[in-house]
Amino acid sequence: MANTVLVGAQWGDEGKGKVVDVLARDADIVVRYQGGSNAGHTLELGPDRYVLHLVPSGVLYPEKLCVIGNGVVVDPLELKQEAEALIARGIPLRGRFWVSDRAHAVLPFHRRQDAARESGAPIGQRLGTTQRGIGPAYADKAHRTGIRMGEFLRPGWEDKVRVRAQEHGGSDGKEMVALLREAAEFLRSFITDTTHLLHEQWKKGKAILFEGAQGTMLDVDHGTYPFVTSSNATAGGASTGTGLPPKAIERVVGVLKVYTTRVGEGPFPTELKDETGELLRRRGREFGATTGRPRRCGWFDAVVARYAAAVNGVDCWAMTKLDVLDECEILRVCVAYEYEGCRIETVPAEAEIYAACRPVYEEFPGWKTSTSSIHRYEDLPVAARSYVEALCRLTGVPLGLLSVGPDRANTFRLAL
Ligand code: IMP
Repeated sequence: MANTVLVGAQWGDEGKGKVVDVLARDADIVVRYQGGSNAGHTLELGPDRYVLHLVPSGVLYPEKLCVIGNGVVVDPLELKQEAEALIARGIPLRGRFWVSDRAHAVLPFHRRQDAARESGAPIGQRLGTTQRGIGPAYADKAHRTGIRMGEFLRPGWEDKVRVRAQEHGGSDGKEMVALLREAAEFLRSFITDTTHLLHEQWKKGKAILFEGAQGTMLDVDHGTYPFVTSSNATAGGASTGTGLPPKAIERVVGVLKVYTTRVGEGPFPTELKDETGELLRRRGREFGATTGRPRRCGWFDAVVARYAAAVNGVDCWAMTKLDVLDECEILRVCVAYEYEGCRIETVPAEAEIYAACRPVYEEFPGWKTSTSSIHRYEDLPVAARSYVEALCRLTGVPLGLLSVGPDRANTFRLAL
């Protein structure tokens, strides 16, 4: 398999976990490069359901190496819990799961700061974060006051944590240090120089799958700033977040849901606040994997998808959740926006302008039959195929994979 970046092309929750799981079969290594436990990747294997927040989705294949790269922010307490739960379910981690010593730690005071900022901000300025401490941890990294995972391998980190806890307005951090000591003890055999490890594997010609979290429109540079996360969720982040050079990336796969969702605040031109939005939420089980919040739902936005294709250099789409649209009479796709009487075909940089953009729709007929038990692309109703093909035409990117249900069996691999 070509070294592949898998990137979300909307506002996250595109179904990346499932697509990583499918592609991981052909990879030797799966590596996460940004974000933290704000992510929630859901995998369904028959009756078993796994929700992973930090550990790469490739972990369910026991022979794959799984790496948390330097660009990820790691909550040691959560990672310990997640790793222990996987081990308890019979999934081995020792010798195949690694955490970068350069990855920054998310500490309890980061979480508190995240929550305090959200509850203290006036309505309208709230971001709707996952309150996992992601923003404050990345802020400390940029301030050069962060604590990196490698520090837990050496004595003396406790004092630094205490000082940082006090600076963040907390207590003397005694309890926190005790909890962190347990986590550090558990995690120490997984922490290593993953940059070196990945280079060694790359030199050996091993196939690497870069697992993006969140999505293009939540990228701190390219998303709907300030209603974004604090990392580079786009394909470029795969290089900075792992230490592998851009030329190690051979292919970019964009994951797209065939409609749109968003959690948290910020512009969303195709949002549906009516019964169709409700239908998508119900049929798509659109509730956050990390926070349980109901997701905002709306029609497919081809302007967003075209933008994501451009920013990430998407080679092909992995489209998900086609079956969610099975009951719709008609389908709308946003092909452009209208702003102050003008038609625009790009994503504006300013959130205020974006919030004032109105979608220009094209309509497509629905298929009104169940697609979730179909096993071949050719057997889909004609209207369903026409819809998918229209999305490819409107975005200028071919289809690589299509998913019509949560299980591994509900997936058509066309060019992936
Ligand atoms: P943070 O990443 O927790 O700081 O949240 C910033 C924004 O990104 C909020 O709108 C969150 O809802 C959104 N967000 C963060 N992680 C995810 C995700 O995995 N899926 C969807 N939205 C996310």
